[in-house]
Parts: sequence; C-alpha cells; structure tokens
Amino acid sequence: MSHTGTETVGEEIPPSGVDASIPHSARVYDWWLGGKDNFAADRAMGAALIQAIPTLRTMAKENRSFVHRVARYLVGEAGVRQFLDIGTGIPTRPNLHEVAQAVAPETRVVYVDNDPIVLAHARALMISTEQGRSEYIHADLREPEKILADPRLTGTLDLDRPVALTLIAVLMLLRDSDDPAGRLRTLMEALPSGSYLAITHPTGDFNPAEMDAAVAAATQGHMTLVPRTRAEVERFFDGWELVDPGVVPVMAWRPESEPEDPHAAYYWAGLARKP
Ligand SMILES: C[S@@+](CC[C@H](N)C(=O)[O-])C[C@H]1O[C@@H](n2cnc3c(N)ncnc32)[C@H](O)[C@@H]1O
Repeated sequence: MSHTGTETVGEEIPPSGVDASIPHSARVYDWWLGGKDNFAADRAMGAALIQAIPTLRTMAKENRSFVHRVARYLVGEAGVRQFLDIGTGIPTRPNLHEVAQAVAPETRVVYVDNDPIVLAHARALMISTEQGRSEYIHADLREPEKILADPRLTGTLDLDRPVALTLIAVLMLLRDSDDPAGRLRTLMEALPSGSYLAITHPTGDFNPAEMDAAVAAATQGHMTLVPRTRAEVERFFDGWELVDPGVVPVMAWRPESEPEDPHAAYYWAGLARKP
C-alpha cells in the first residue's frame, strides 16, 4: 500500500478482516496524515471530506499535536504514569507511549481500537521502553466492561492508581443512540481519584456550513460523523474538574506558541481530573 492521491497504486491487498471496499475512519485519518495504510474507498471518502472542509489535513495534525501536548502535561506536570487510550488509530509516530515514555520511561499505556487494520499494525504500538509497558486490546468503546475486564488491561494497569483515559477524536464516531456518555461513565467510574480524562471532539460551532457539508459527505459514504457543541463536550466531563483552560479550541489548549487563528481546527479539546 503506497499512495499519495485518491488513485489506486498497484494491487492493494487488505490484511485479513479488513473490508477495503467501505471507508473507515482510521484509514481516512491515516490518509490525511500522510500514512500508507488506506485504500481507494478511504481516499475517496477522505477527499470528499476535504472538499467539505479544505483544512481537514491541518485539523488532523493539530489533533495529533494535542495528543503530544496533553501526554507531556500529564506525565511531566500531573505525574501520571498510566494511560488508557481508546480509539488509538493506526500507529503514527510519535505514538502516545513514545511521547509519555520520553518524559517518564516507566509509563504504561494500554491502547484500544476496534478496527482490524489497527490490530494488524498493533506490534508497532507495543514497542515499549524496558522500564515501561504498552499493550494493545482489539475491542469496542461501546463495550467498556469488556475493556476493563481484559487481562491485558488488568495485567498492565493498576486501577488503584491514577490513569489518564484518552478519547482523542473518537467520540464523534458514536451516535447518541450508542450512548457515548454512558459508556464513558462506566470507564470513568472504574478509575480512582486523581485520574484524568482527555477528549478532543469535532464541532460545527466554528464553521457550521463546512461541518454540515462534512456530515453530508460522511453520511453518503456510510460513515458516522457526529459533531458536538461545546456544551455537549463539556457534559462528557461532568463531575470531574476541568484543568485550565477548560474546553477550548484544540489549538488553544496549552499551545507551545499562540496560534494565529485558534478556530482554524474545528475541534473542542479538554482535560479534567477526577476529584
Ligand atoms: C480519527 S481516528 C483517531 C486516532 C487517534 N486517537 C488520534 O486522534 O490521532 C479514530 C479511531 O477510533 C477508532 N474507533 C472508531 N470507533 C470505535 C469504537 N467504537 N471502539 C474503539 N475504537 C473505535 C477507529 O478505528 C480509529 O482508529
């Protein structure tokens, strides 16, 4: 698999379990980020979404940049040494554990995704420092009890010590009827005081017309995309204490340098601590 445009280059043979004829969020996102693990249907969907939102590639990069900043904050400033990252995506260097372990090599990370293509590449996610650990679980966010009971989670994370739960650009793939808040609540309740929750979430708040066009393109391609308002994103954190600066445009969350236009990436981002 090696492509730069929407055209098919050579013969594309998907790993087992991967239906390459239907676009999938992990592979569309991989294409935006310049990755190679995507197929013609994903690139067609990715291009249709770029027609709706021309800055989507920059948005994906800004979202990754948040992952790096929040991981450095959590390990470097908040002292967290354990992560549970759900909706991990196709490995993209630096991966979360690489950023965290660069600060504290003993950090442990459990990754979860439900896409077979992520599973096919999971080995790259499991190359950890000797002192730390990283694990991968092929599972669905809509089955939080299963994730929490998985021996790879219980064998890697100590749920009596703080865990950072990271849901980065994944909740928009759950419809309200999937009860994202309820699934999240089950995970939040399993974590001890001093744990953290980080979320990024696409929104129509900054440019409703472009986001509406993106939802229409996604719907046409049979892909779920549910943008949510700031109030809806804030509600996911209910009962936990938002860390400064609260739920803000992703580019405005503790940026390394002041962005010219923080609303250029249509994502809300936030981090909260369990009291
Ligand atoms: C847009 S990517 C985000 C990747 C990464 N978190 C990031 O922000 O760079 C969304 C990921 O969530 C995964 N995903 C979608 N629905 C999921 C579900 N119900 N359970 C677990 N993972 C899911 C997709 O397979 C994909 O890898």
